[in-house]
Amino acid sequence: MKILIKNGIVVEPIKKLTDKMDILIEENKITRMAEEIEITEDMQVVDASEKHIFPGLVDIHVHLREPGYEHKETIYSGTRAAAKGGFTSICCMPNTDPVADNSSVIRFIQHRAADEGVVKVFPIGAISKKLEGQEISEIGMLAEAGVVALSDDGNTVMNSGVMRRAMEYATPWNLPFISHCEDQNLVDNGMVNEGYASLMTGLPVYPKAAEETIIARDIALAELTGAKLHIAHLTTKGGVELVRQAKAKGLPVTAEVTPHHLALSEEDVLSFDTSYKVNPPLRSKEDVTALIEGLQDGTIDIIATDHAPHAYEEKMVEFIYAPFGIAGIETALPVIYTYLVKDGKLSLLEMVEKMSSKPAEILGLPVSKLSEGENADLIIVDLDRELEVEIKDLVSKGKNNPFIGQRLTGWPVMTMVNGKVVYQRSGFNASN
Ligand code: DOR
Repeated sequence: MKILIKNGIVVEPIKKLTDKMDILIEENKITRMAEEIEITEDMQVVDASEKHIFPGLVDIHVHLREPGYEHKETIYSGTRAAAKGGFTSICCMPNTDPVADNSSVIRFIQHRAADEGVVKVFPIGAISKKLEGQEISEIGMLAEAGVVALSDDGNTVMNSGVMRRAMEYATPWNLPFISHCEDQNLVDNGMVNEGYASLMTGLPVYPKAAEETIIARDIALAELTGAKLHIAHLTTKGGVELVRQAKAKGLPVTAEVTPHHLALSEEDVLSFDTSYKVNPPLRSKEDVTALIEGLQDGTIDIIATDHAPHAYEEKMVEFIYAPFGIAGIETALPVIYTYLVKDGKLSLLEMVEKMSSKPAEILGLPVSKLSEGENADLIIVDLDRELEVEIKDLVSKGKNNPFIGQRLTGWPVMTMVNGKVVYQRSGFNASN
């Protein structure tokens, strides 16, 4: 059966196009796009009037937790949460148990994703064995198994010599390094921004310098080795400036910011609600402004969720004992739309670009394009729909989402991967 999506407003960042168009899908491909496509009997019609159509979103920073932490998330639940959030491709971080530092774990994830996943899953391999920062992983084998990047996310490779050798060793495969920038000696057991948040709560400090020293180091190492460097979850004004300078020098450095670091600030942790406990921590309002400016001027290339689900009971403890992480993949798009686009801080095209084509480009993933002949990875979004985020609606196993209780606008109503509907919001009538 062919699928005809009628009357939607197509937002295509590569062609810089926002236009009302019908889209015809046959098998897994977009076969026609035109102002008006006539309905025939062999078509299932999806009425997208007053809705927008985006290329499928791409999230290059997701924790799927499988293997090893299936009580927090699985490939089954995590890919469904991604589909609900409008993501058609996701990259998963290697801090699983066992760690994804060898080809068997990578192949396990790929098989599991093929069997149980509903969106495309691209694994990221560990830089160091067991994420211990001592011995380099078998990078060649990881590359052969199909990893799209290397990262010790959750940890920093603290030994600069090891990081340098890993970057040099990885040169033949040209794999990007995604750096979790945290000087562990400076952080120690710190958990909130050093400043207003630490002063008001008395909780141990996580200084901005801990992030900035490693950003500066890794930029220097990227310059030395020629490795592609991607800075994960940037949070500080100083960090934005370091990336800006690296780009001005022409270095192969890119950066991401999360929806929560753009929408929230250190003042939120004064509630002691563990949903706000995240690594790196929520920063000052001044930092948030700098992050938004960085996003606007292109210093920060993309938005990535760092979807970090934890079990309910793990987070339902005192702030000091709770694990770090926010599970935000289902609310990323409405958070960005509500906080940035509706406020005029980012255009619709910029938002879509920074959440689809740009992240795919950074890791060399297939880019989902709204164009004839392309794979039908797309989403239909209701930009007028305002909904309260409710815990009962979250399909991720991680309910550690600080936006619960907030009213957000701009929700996906349908997600399609390779022409197949993998998510449809109840109430969105696809068969009229
Ligand atoms: O808050 C975080 N949680 N930050 C990270 O870098 C890792 C993540 C996790 O794995 O829970």
